Amino acid sequence: VAQLPEGYRVRSLRSTDFATGFLDCLRVLTTVGDITEAAFIERYNFFAKQSGTYFVLVIEDAAGKVVGTGALVVERKFIHNLGIVGHIEDIAVAKDQQGKKLGLRIIQALDFIAERVGCYKTILDCSEANEGFYVKCGFRRAGLEMAHYY
Ligand code: ACO
Repeated sequence: VAQLPEGYRVRSLRSTDFATGFLDCLRVLTTVGDITEAAFIERYNFFAKQSGTYFVLVIEDAAGKVVGTGALVVERKFIHNLGIVGHIEDIAVAKDQQGKKLGLRIIQALDFIAERVGCYKTILDCSEANEGFYVKCGFRRAGLEMAHYY
């Protein structure tokens, strides 16, 4: 398991993370939009109610600021004998914290949860530019993504 820098830790997202830089961390990945604290908490509570389905992790630095995040969505199926598939989503490490193995540590933690909840595989979509990162995390290219935007 990748070692974290001194004072850093991995933990689950909390309803108080509106104030700790979680959304700014996600802005490294894509557009987040102008989300109010109430809207953030409402979405947080929705996730919390779907027990065993959404696992959102953060890495906080020694000062308690969120510098990395990633999510696992657990999909329960009929096929493969009621198989369970993990989906890794929204991995982001703050720009000035990249290259310290924080991304790897997040993937390892999400993989650990996926295996423990009984997933037979975990899948994700990424750009060609990020393929090397996920290969280092133990993933390999499989299939083809398609999208229909509304
Ligand atoms: N291509 C090839 N190798 C890479 C890349 C890359 N783009 N990024 C990191 N690596 C390598 C590192 O060199 C390291 O290799 P090493 O073990 O030989 O030293 C290994 O992968 C682990 O790297 P980390 O230090 O853990 O990577 P980092 O903490 O910088 O996180 C991440 C990588 C998450 C891609 C980060 O750069 C980031 O947040 N980028 C912007 C947002 C983004 O693109 N997120 C992923 C979207 S895909 C999704 O969410 C499913």
